[in-house]
Order: sequence, then C-alpha cells, then structure tokens
Amino acid sequence: MPKHFLSLADIPASELRAILDEAHARKKARAGLLKGVEDTDAPLAGRTLAMLFEKSSTRTRFSFDMAMRQLGGSNITALSGDMQMGRGETIEDTAKVLSRFVDGIMLRANRHEDLLALAQHASIPVINGLTDYNHPCQIMADLQTLEEHGRELNSLRMTWVGDGNNVAVSFINAAAKFGYELNISCPPGYTAPGADIERARAEGGKVREVTDPAKACAGADVVIADTWVSMGDTDADERMRDLAAYQVNDALMGRAAKDAIFLHCLPAHRGEEVSASVIDGPQSVVFDEAENRLHAQKAVMRWCLGV
Ligand code: CP
Ligand code: NVA
Repeated sequence: MPKHFLSLADIPASELRAILDEAHARKKARAGLLKGVEDTDAPLAGRTLAMLFEKSSTRTRFSFDMAMRQLGGSNITALSGDMQMGRGETIEDTAKVLSRFVDGIMLRANRHEDLLALAQHASIPVINGLTDYNHPCQIMADLQTLEEHGRELNSLRMTWVGDGNNVAVSFINAAAKFGYELNISCPPGYTAPGADIERARAEGGKVREVTDPAKACAGADVVIADTWVSMGDTDADERMRDLAAYQVNDALMGRAAKDAIFLHCLPAHRGEEVSASVIDGPQSVVFDEAENRLHAQKAVMRWCLGV
C-alpha cells in the first residue's frame, strides 16, 4: 500500500511529529543556500511528482515545485482543464496511468471524494493539496511556524474564528495528535463538521465550540482566520453578511494573550476576515507560515516516498 497523505486524522501522532521534526531540520540545513540550489542530500533524485490542480493556487503550486527541485527531483504540473480528466476521463484511469509515469501525485481537488478515489486506484502515494473538506499540508506548515516562534504545541490554546471550513477541519484533525486546545468560533450555519469534532474528542482532542468570538479568543495564544468565501463557494454576499461579526481585528486580538500569534493560510482579504492592522501587524507570522509550506511539504514527500 502506498503511503498517502490525505488527512491528519489518519496518520499516527508519532509519524506527524517525525514529519515536523524533519521539516525543522531541513529548513535549518539549507540556511544561506540560494533557492535554486539542491539540499545537500538530494533525497528525491530520480523521482518525479505530478501536481494536478482543479482550482487556483499560488503557495501550494510554488512550494511543491520548489520542494521537488530542492530535494533533487522533478515535477510536472497540470491544470485539470489541460487534462483528459477535465473532459470526462475517469479518476480511476487517471490514477492508473499516472502511476506508470511518476512517483507521486499531489492533487488540489474540488471534491474530497475525488481525492479518495485517486488514492484508492493509484499504486503511488497521493498527497492532498487541499480539497473542499480539508487542507492537511497547510496545518503542518502552521504547526512548524508556531514551534519556530518558540511555542510548545501541547500547551497552546488556539482559537479559530470564522467559517468552519477545510482549513479548520485540518486543525481539528491535528488537535488530538499534538495536544493543543482548540476553540472553534463560527456563526450558526458555518460550524465545522460535527463528525470531525467528535472524532477528535474521542481521541482525546481538546476541541470546544464557542460561538461568541470574543469569548473564544479570551486568553488565546494563537488566533487563526481564513477567508469567508472559499474556492467553490457560490454564496459570497450571504457569507459576507453572516460572518461580518467574526472579523479578527484589534478588538478581538485584544482579548487574546498579549503575546498571541496570528495565523492565516492566505490568500487574505483585508477588511473582511481580518483587519490590515492585524495581518500586517507585529503579531502576524503569515509569511513565515507561507514559507514553511516548502519545508513541511519536503518532509511530507519524504514520508510518503519512504526515502
Ligand atoms: N494557503 C494556500 O494553500 O494557498 P494557495 O491557494 O495559494 O495554494
Ligand atoms: N479555505 C480556503 C483556503 C485557501 C488556501 C479555500 O478553500 O479557498
């Protein structure tokens, strides 16, 4: 069975811990190197990753591409509209064909079911580059960022504010694995999936739903926001209205611990889910977070490929 990276809920805590350790080590090891220079061990020499996108991407695309180059491997990027998959070839056949050409597949999919189908039929590892349901690579980079800023994950209180979306799901999935407390603050109708919250709690995760964002942020060590309108959402006007009271601004950050960190996976919409004063202010680490996609995903790929 290939080792797929589809959901943090399915990967043992010890293996996720090892991936994070590797991400830190790889980042340190290449300090001072030009971006286009390979890591000295080049562990993926001779390996190729296919990167398939059904929706837009800046960070995921550039970070995986540079990660493969720095690991000594290569990659092929295709937008689904360029592929036969975009005009009806089945996921199953696509999985079987790509398995003959490349060593791994990263997919950004509209529908999580399609990612699962790809993984089921591929004989090579499949990595989740975001679906409508979750975004596990993002959270590995986020956790790396918090540790890099001197925080111990198992003693942190984190608060998610806004839409209970795909990024929120991966934070929930990782809660029991890393031991942090997670408050999820969403308005009615935008809550995170109950099944993920229940599963996290059953595994010992300290996940609480706190509808009032001011209460949810009280004393928080980390405050997290994401867009109110994710890719594929069609009800933008309604969302803007319903989520208006969930903007992370100075008033809300003022409820959190004095040294609280602000996270956002980007792309951000200043004046909507976050004020410019917060995302561009001293508590924000969003560009370290973006950079760490590169380092965390290198470790994910080594874990998947077993090299
Ligand atoms: N955070 C993130 O996944 O960004 P992209 O959509 O630009 O890849
Ligand atoms: N929730 C956002 C994340 C983008 C990286 C989306 O799915 O569009």
